[in-house]
Amino acid sequence: MLINRRLTLTTACLLVGLALAGCGKQESAAPAAGSAPPPPAAARVLVVGTDAAYKPFESQNEKGEVVGFDIDVVKAVAQKAGFEVKFVNTPWEGIFNALAQGDRDLLVSAITITEERRQTMDFSQPYFEARQLIAVKNDSKVAKFEDIKPLTIGVQNGTTGDEVVGKLLGKSSTAIKRFESTPLALKELEAGGVEAVVADNGVVEHYLANNAGGGFKTVSDAGFSAEQYGIAVKKGNTELLAKIDKGLADIKADGTYAKIYASHFGAGPK
Ligand code: ARG
Repeated sequence: MLINRRLTLTTACLLVGLALAGCGKQESAAPAAGSAPPPPAAARVLVVGTDAAYKPFESQNEKGEVVGFDIDVVKAVAQKAGFEVKFVNTPWEGIFNALAQGDRDLLVSAITITEERRQTMDFSQPYFEARQLIAVKNDSKVAKFEDIKPLTIGVQNGTTGDEVVGKLLGKSSTAIKRFESTPLALKELEAGGVEAVVADNGVVEHYLANNAGGGFKTVSDAGFSAEQYGIAVKKGNTELLAKIDKGLADIKADGTYAKIYASHFGAGPK
């Protein structure tokens, strides 16, 4: 019946010709007979975007499932706040666009809350504190951030690591090698293609701990300011943001957050 109607409309459109604007519109606007009303927003499974190449915050396991600290936090928040989520691996490069366009309802991706990003998206309360950390070869003389100035430096494109290195060397410096993921930058350090990498401490530390043969060490610098990770929603989505913030507060209050933290980082949160 529906098919017949569509066919009839399509035929009519074809017969009358494309010059008659509005046919296509009418067709799609016609309600499908007997179809159920759209589910209320709360019943919809929310799509969470994450760049799952960021252990231990987000990665894909052998089964292809997205796992990690961030994932556990959002799952716990969703459970408390009463919404359902599914995680979709989303390359960092397009992740903010995907949110702005509504392809993702929220993002969890070890995203640092910055004033610049606040212009185009909204953030939850902070859920994790991080800092930049420098990785260099074991025999490197680098002792502080300034010391990497004459070196070629690997960063993940568009991250806060990219930003701090850009400030030190100048954004357009050819000594900055931008990679699509942080592990790729670290692999390049191992291979000798770059002489230093600047990235979030948690990820650099995790990589080192699991690649003992890589032959590199970390250098911290007190000049790096503390960064706060937040969960991002589309600008103006205050309803979802309120739910997320409430869920975060709840999992911090009842010990769930501390448990998740301990299961990924060993010790309790500071
Ligand atoms: N915290 C850094 C930033 O927000 C890096 C985050 C990268 N996250 C990821 N899953 N690749 O810029």
